[in-house]
Amino acid sequence: MAKGKRVRGRHAPQDCRPESLVSTFGYSPQLSEGALVPPIFLSSTFVFRTAEDGERAFRAAYHLKGPKPRTPSLIYTRLNNPNLEILEDRLVLFEPGAERCAVFSSGMAAITTSILSLLEKGGVVAYSTPVYGGTDFLFNHFLPKFGIRTVPFRAGSDATQILALLEREVGPAGGDAMIFLETPANPTCVLTDIGAARSAIDRFSRGRKHTVYLGVDNTFLGPMWQHPAQLGADLVIYSATKFIGGHSDVLAGAVLGSRKLIEDRIKVGRTIFGTIPSPFDGYLLLRSLDTLQMRMTAQLKSAESVARWLSRQDEVTEVLYPGLLPKGTLQRKIYDRQCLQPGSMISFYLKGGKPAAFRFLNHLRLAKLAVSLGSTTTLAEHPASMTHSDLDPTERNELGIDDRMVRLSIGTEHCLDIIADLKQALRQT
Ligand SMILES: Cc1ncc(COP(=O)(O)O)c(C=O)c1O
Repeated sequence: MAKGKRVRGRHAPQDCRPESLVSTFGYSPQLSEGALVPPIFLSSTFVFRTAEDGERAFRAAYHLKGPKPRTPSLIYTRLNNPNLEILEDRLVLFEPGAERCAVFSSGMAAITTSILSLLEKGGVVAYSTPVYGGTDFLFNHFLPKFGIRTVPFRAGSDATQILALLEREVGPAGGDAMIFLETPANPTCVLTDIGAARSAIDRFSRGRKHTVYLGVDNTFLGPMWQHPAQLGADLVIYSATKFIGGHSDVLAGAVLGSRKLIEDRIKVGRTIFGTIPSPFDGYLLLRSLDTLQMRMTAQLKSAESVARWLSRQDEVTEVLYPGLLPKGTLQRKIYDRQCLQPGSMISFYLKGGKPAAFRFLNHLRLAKLAVSLGSTTTLAEHPASMTHSDLDPTERNELGIDDRMVRLSIGTEHCLDIIADLKQALRQT
């Protein structure tokens, strides 16, 4: 049987970089017939040695009083499973500042479970806009049904603005709250200062009973290029469907944070909501993690070239990419403070409006016209009519998600082939 914590510290050289540890960390081959790669543990339930062991295991799982097992035991796959435990331990390697991880059946499952596990009726979620369309839908249409109020604020707001928002919206409500940031924002790539949000929360919380959590959706830059827990986030949230999975063949999510929040709160919610992924998806993600650093580095290098090339094209009026932020601007200062690299998501506006955007998308040959992002295949989409089509049209335009915009996720194809494809499609606009 495989179990991360038993081997940690004994075999794992802690001073190695994550990519050096990731393919072996948290798993002991001796416990699985010597298999180098963890087998897929499809079993939905796990046999207790004795009834006493079973009782102790449940006490630990449900945080009940009385003696607990010395090492956490496996019970039932809706609570946990060896493949998922190994995956969680390996994801922690990539997230400095986080102690634990919980994986989910999708990014939306990760966001929903985290919020419903931490907030109650009367709670407030204040979120930066824009956010991914599904997240926006959850905040506008579902959370209010559970008595959780949701308040949008502009991505890029500073500490003073966030503090004023907390005083106005959370102060009188009296309940716990969450500041939810998506940075860079999907699809505009606007950055919000994670450290500034942390300091606003700390100032607001002085002498108050409220707990205000800081959750950061780090999907766009992924675990390689931004480390929100180090910058003060309580929760780092991923759609693992994107860069972590990386091959457009698995839907998953992940949340990282302190042992207390992940183990005592969010995993309890996950057990009851049943939002854990399958062992097979855990296996796929473990396989993907081995190449995370290589894939994301290759995607980054191509994206930098593509963004620079796009910014020189006559058909393109503006390119939104963190790597092109002009020196001296506020956005660039945030970038320098919190991002390690600009990533591989690019949005741009076409001179010819929606007809040009559609012509461009319809003429792509190598890149595929599909939503989602972060995979080895270059993907292109039209946010206004696809991923963000549910947003109020006036608000959407104000946020810059208008008909002229195309979003690109750069894959691992040869950079010159990507540029050649974009060039021939641009010439059709
Ligand atoms: C930034 C961001 N967060 C969350 C999600 C939701 O993830 P999933 O589709 O895995 O549920 C997405 C999906 O595109 C996203 O782009």
